[in-house]
Amino acid sequence: MQESIQSLVPKVQIKACLFDLDGVLVDTAAYHYQAWRRLAQTMNFDFTEKQNEQLKGISRMESLNKILTWGKVQKTEPEKEELAALKNTWYVEMISKMTPAEVLPGAVEFLSALHKNGYQLVLGSASKNSGMILDKTNLAHFFDAVVDGNMVTKSKPEPEVFLKGAALLSLKPAVCVVFEDAAAGIEAAKRAGMKAVGIGKKEILNKADLVVSGLNKLTIKDLENL
Ligand code: G6P
Ligand code: MG
Repeated sequence: MQESIQSLVPKVQIKACLFDLDGVLVDTAAYHYQAWRRLAQTMNFDFTEKQNEQLKGISRMESLNKILTWGKVQKTEPEKEELAALKNTWYVEMISKMTPAEVLPGAVEFLSALHKNGYQLVLGSASKNSGMILDKTNLAHFFDAVVDGNMVTKSKPEPEVFLKGAALLSLKPAVCVVFEDAAAGIEAAKRAGMKAVGIGKKEILNKADLVVSGLNKLTIKDLENL
C-alpha cells in the first residue's frame, strides 16, 4: 500500500531542464557548418567535419578565430568583424527559411511531456539568432526563460549561460539538467554543477551523465534516474 502511494508522488529532484538549441532541438549545426565553409572557401581553404565539431557551442567570434587559425590566415579586428557579419548574413538567409518541420525528431514530444509533468524549461544557447530560430520553428512557447548569446559574456565551456538560466528561475544548479550536443556545452553544465545529458556520440560527449542519439530516445523516467 505504502509503496503504491510512494510511486504516485512525483520525484521533484530535477526541477528544470535547460536546452541547448543548435544540434539539440534543431539541426542548425549543419547550417553553421555550411556558412563557415563558404567563408573559408572565399579565403581559399576548407575544414573538415571533425574540425567543425570544435565549433559547436562556442561563440561566433571564437569560431571565426579557430577557423582563421586552421587556414593560417591573419586578419585585423575590423576585418574579422566583417567576416563574421558576412557569415551571419549567409546563416540568417538559411535559418529565415526554417519551418517547424526542421525540429529534430522527438523534441516537441519531449518538451511537451516535460511541460505537462511540471518541469520548468529554459533555453541556454550561445546563439544571437536564437529568437529567430525559436519563432520560425514554433518552439518559443515552451520556454519559461531564454538565455542566449546576447545575454552572456563568457561562452561555453564557461558555465555562465546555464547559471543565468537557473538564476532566472531562482533555482539551484543541483536541480537542473542540461541537454547538449557539444563537448563544450557538457563541460559548461558540469562546471555549473548540473546534470548533463549528451545528445550525440558517446566518444565526443564522454563527460555527460547520460548520452543518447536524440531526444526521441528519452523519456521522463530517464531524468528520474540521472
Ligand atoms: C551555437 C552553435 C555555435 C555558434 C553559436 C553562435 O552555440 O552551436 O556553433 O557559433 O551558437 O551562434 P550565432 O547564431 O550567434 O552566430
Ligand atoms: Mg549545440
